[in-house]
This record gives sequence, C-alpha cells and structure tokens, in this order.
Amino acid sequence: MVKRKIIVYPDPVLSLVSEEVTEIDEETQELIKDMFEAMDEEVGIGLAAPQLGVSERIMVVSIKEKNFERLAIINPVISFFSEETVVIEEGCLSIPGINMDVRRPANIILRGLARSGRLVEINATGMLARVIQHEIDHLDGVLFIDRLSYKDKKAIEANLQALNKQYSAASP
Ligand code: NI
Repeated sequence: MVKRKIIVYPDPVLSLVSEEVTEIDEETQELIKDMFEAMDEEVGIGLAAPQLGVSERIMVVSIKEKNFERLAIINPVISFFSEETVVIEEGCLSIPGINMDVRRPANIILRGLARSGRLVEINATGMLARVIQHEIDHLDGVLFIDRLSYKDKKAIEANLQALNKQYSAASP
C-alpha cells in the first residue's frame, strides 16, 4: 500500500514555493522512497515533493535515458536553458485527466544533489529535459496549466472546474 497519496489540484500546497533542503537526513531518504513509490503506483515519470504535501525542493524522475533510469535530485537548479524550444504534450499526476501541449526549452543543464549528497550535473535533452523542467516548476508553485495560452486554458476550463468541484466536495 502506498504510504502517501498524491495531492490533487487545486490544493493550495501545489502553489507554494518550496524550501531548500538544508540537511539530507533519514527523513529526506524516507520521503524520496515514498515519492518513488507514489510515482510508480500511478506509472508516472516524475514527481515533486509538494505533490505529496511536502514543501521541500526534491524531485524524482523515472525515465530510461543514457546510463540511468531513476533519479532523485535535491535542491535542483537549471543552470542552462537552450534557446531552442520544443512543444511536447504534458500531463500531471496532480491534474488528472488533462493533457496539453506545452512549449519549453529543448535542452537544459541541471545541477543538484543526489541522495548521497554528492553534487551532480546532468545534460538533459528530450523527454528527460521536459520532465525536469515540469518538476522544478512544481517546486516554485507553478503547474503546467499555468504555462498555457489563454485560448488553451479556456479549452480545459470545464475540466478544471470539475476538479475544483471534486476538491471542495472532498475538503472538510
Ligand atoms: Ni506535475
């Protein structure tokens, strides 16, 4: 059984700017384990800590790419964005049932800390670059629907309203 449930839009925790992790301790390791578990349960390819209700700058990714498949990064920072952009369809485990095309930089360089505390730098392209940018947005309280044009946002208005209704019905 999954220990922590994925928080769904429009829960306000998804709009908070997350805090830097100052110490990688046992709790951090537990959280990362729970993040992988929750992501795998939903067959996702990325997850950010706020999606489990924790406002800390931690993200996990699960993509077959080069020499790794599973990646947890603490305090991730993008140190380079390519000028070239690309449109890729995005979805989000916190915004079920909605997928939309989003334009973002095609290539990035990511810096952050691995679970061991070791500094890592990753040159990312393709889907990996996309997922990393989507997850770091979560750490800044930004969702992919915030990056849509007015017209595209209009197109999914009914779906968002349905999520709003479900949320208010479930909240005490
Ligand atoms: Ni997401």
